[in-house]
Amino acid sequence: MEKFVISGGKPLKGSVRISGAKNAAVAILPAILLTDEPCTVENLPEISDVTTILRTMQSLGAEVKVINKSTVQINPKNVNSYVVTKEMAEGMRASSYFLGALLGRMNKARVAPPGGCDFGVRPIDQHIKGFEALGARVTIDSGMVDARAERLSGSSIYLDVVSVGATINIMLAAARVSGLTIIENAAREPHIVDLANFLNSMGANIMGAGTNIIKIRGVEKLHGTDYSIIPDQIEAGTYMLAAAATKGDVLIENVTPKHLESIIAKLLEVGATVEEFDEAVRVSMSNRPKQCKVKTMPHPGFPTDMQPQMATLLSVAEGTSIITEGVWDSRFRYVDQLTKMGAKIQVDGKMAVITGVDELTSAPVKAVDLRAGAAMIIAGLMAKGITEVEDIDHIDRGYEKLAEKLRELGADICRMPIIPTDAQLMDA
Ligand code: EPU
Repeated sequence: MEKFVISGGKPLKGSVRISGAKNAAVAILPAILLTDEPCTVENLPEISDVTTILRTMQSLGAEVKVINKSTVQINPKNVNSYVVTKEMAEGMRASSYFLGALLGRMNKARVAPPGGCDFGVRPIDQHIKGFEALGARVTIDSGMVDARAERLSGSSIYLDVVSVGATINIMLAAARVSGLTIIENAAREPHIVDLANFLNSMGANIMGAGTNIIKIRGVEKLHGTDYSIIPDQIEAGTYMLAAAATKGDVLIENVTPKHLESIIAKLLEVGATVEEFDEAVRVSMSNRPKQCKVKTMPHPGFPTDMQPQMATLLSVAEGTSIITEGVWDSRFRYVDQLTKMGAKIQVDGKMAVITGVDELTSAPVKAVDLRAGAAMIIAGLMAKGITEVEDIDHIDRGYEKLAEKLRELGADICRMPIIPTDAQLMDA
């Protein structure tokens, strides 16, 4: 086990290159199961969620060839299993995408319930509603989600809640079924558009991705493709907020500025300077941030996956800020960790009231989930003194080479092994 050790108080300066999008990669890789031909995927982030997906694909029978650190070639020709076990599924939310992909490939899928970050209840009823509308029978037995169909056919599905996962899973299941599938109230995140572009590059016929109505005209066969994944909106946003929070000046390269609009708007509101280029943004800040109100919403709203990082920046703002979480029931579990560092935050249900303090102070904290972990790193970079962040396997799920990238920007951060205490050794 390891921890990050940060000696904070130094402004981030320089440039950082953003990796491929985690949430696009974890949808696009399972989508390869919809063909029998090899596919090459470039710009994959080097993160543990991608490794887990690749391992799962191998266990199903796919051949995975690593071309270089961000490119793999996958040949799914010999995939003959439709079962994703608990061991494979539990580390990650995106394991649910094997339900849609295997259903689309083999008309059957048996997948252990997905894991991932703990934000309270994480239902998959809308995924199931979609599969059933396409003609599948979905049951839960022996702790596995089992979906089967004699034959799937196109259908209209209205999502009761805007769900990224359900939109993706229905697109996967429907890409090859006969007839027209319409998803209404679909999610519009950049990774939904990326998945649609990927499937279309395999010969699928998907229209409307990026709007709230997606139309999928099923095709009989999909072919192999070469595809490069979009840059990670949330990794980019995390470095943008880290630049502002440390009163730094950072050029964030390999981004799609359009995907960052809601984050840029909030940074401008708190007083940062943001310059946009074709494939880069530069963020700098010299003063204390101003207070603001933030409400997280599905895209194009302010992303819930930037909420903990934003709360960290606002913890030192002038005045009182309010964050309302509009996507998840319970996404403030990290607040206890931030208050250990001197932040003044009161949570009432889905709302956090943040009274800005002059500065954060270093303390030992934990990454309670992936983005909460990123927030603790930003807090550690802001606070003078040594901050230790434990449970960093959450962070490794979604941020490629975090310490290396931050060191390039002048941060003092390293990974250190956690030495177990005598009592822990006795227990082991
Ligand atoms: N929901 C339902 N029923 C469903 C599905 C979702 O009620 O069948 C509800 C959820 O409880 C939640 C809301 O709908 O309140 C949105 O959930 P969504 O399905 O959109 O989330 P997800 O697909 O499980 C993805 C990202 C998350 C991100 C959310 C929201 C991936 C692999 N995960 O999760 O990303 O927070 O969308 O944007 O794409 C992260 O990257 O750190 C992360 C947690």
